[in-house]
Amino acid sequence: MKTILVTGGAGFLGSHLCDRLIKNGHKIICVDNLSTGSKRNIEHLQHHPHFVFVEHDIRRFKKWSVDEIYNLACPASPEQYQKKPAHTIETCVLGILNMLELARNTGAKILQASTSEIYGDPLEHPQKESYWGNVNTLGPRGCYDEGKRCAESMMIAYRDQYHCQIKIARIFNTYGPRMQRHDGRVVSNFIVQALQGSDLTFYGDGQQTRSFCYVEDTVEALVRLMATVDFEGPVNIGNPVEMTLLELADIILKKTQSSSEKVFLAPAKDDPNKRRPDISLAKQVLSWSPRVSIDRGLNHTIEWFSGS
Ligand SMILES: NC(=O)c1ccc[n+]([C@@H]2O[C@H](COP(=O)([O-])OP(=O)(O)OC[C@H]3O[C@@H](n4cnc5c(N)ncnc54)[C@H](O)[C@@H]3O)[C@@H](O)[C@H]2O)c1
Repeated sequence: MKTILVTGGAGFLGSHLCDRLIKNGHKIICVDNLSTGSKRNIEHLQHHPHFVFVEHDIRRFKKWSVDEIYNLACPASPEQYQKKPAHTIETCVLGILNMLELARNTGAKILQASTSEIYGDPLEHPQKESYWGNVNTLGPRGCYDEGKRCAESMMIAYRDQYHCQIKIARIFNTYGPRMQRHDGRVVSNFIVQALQGSDLTFYGDGQQTRSFCYVEDTVEALVRLMATVDFEGPVNIGNPVEMTLLELADIILKKTQSSSEKVFLAPAKDDPNKRRPDISLAKQVLSWSPRVSIDRGLNHTIEWFSGS
């Protein structure tokens, strides 16, 4: 049994990761400041003998005795991370610094939840790990994109100078149960709007593409990455099935039998036009590719939103 620290463990992805690691027989220290996460996401684990929740902000250092660290703490939705941009970049940069110091002190392996956003509005399509990206440092997404880019560089610096064992996962859009209802992510937005019969809001003409990966698949890839020997990434984790937001909306409208109208608002600044991961590396090194189709994943997600 390993002792594993999961930062952001009360969030969408983090809570599913905690479920999976508990199932694998490990002891979990779940750290979260509850800024975008919720105790509700982990309430079923609260009395588990191998689960501990600590309300803590990773911008401050705290010491734990751990074998592995999954650093997921950071708001992921543009609406959330732009509310307090200074907190976002501090979480990315000071947060990973504190976690790397912990890894250095304890010898723990550390996995950073990086993002496809480090590719910015990509000029290369699909995106391979070798692509350096196209990010507007000064734009509204800079606090997140550049924070995450800096976090990757800090991982490399701690590996080179202090020999930390690092793993970098570049996660593409993930969806599933426990996404917040109103945090502005497109899948949850469309499902909630369709179920309520209110207008489906598009920022731009809806022709921008995304590739959506079901949360169970993303978690599987993170666990596999942590288990690798002599591999540190970065590795893309996502579903290469690409669709326009209009196509996504049509699937959701059909599944929910909703008569909601589509409404087109001004495009969001620096919103990427295209997004699709090249997952050749994940296939080769992690023997991983997504198993849950968009059809099945959306069914689970819609069912969860209908009942929550
Ligand atoms: N979900 C995705 O599509 C996606 C895509 C790429 C990368 N990621 C990365 O995965 C991670 C988890 O994303 P998510 O979708 O679960 O988002 P989320 O907002 O649901 O979860 C983030 C969690 O981190 C916590 N948190 C934020 N700042 C913190 C701080 N300073 N100290 C302690 N806790 C803090 C929040 O309360 C929340 O519980 C993030 O790092 C995100 O950048 C997610």
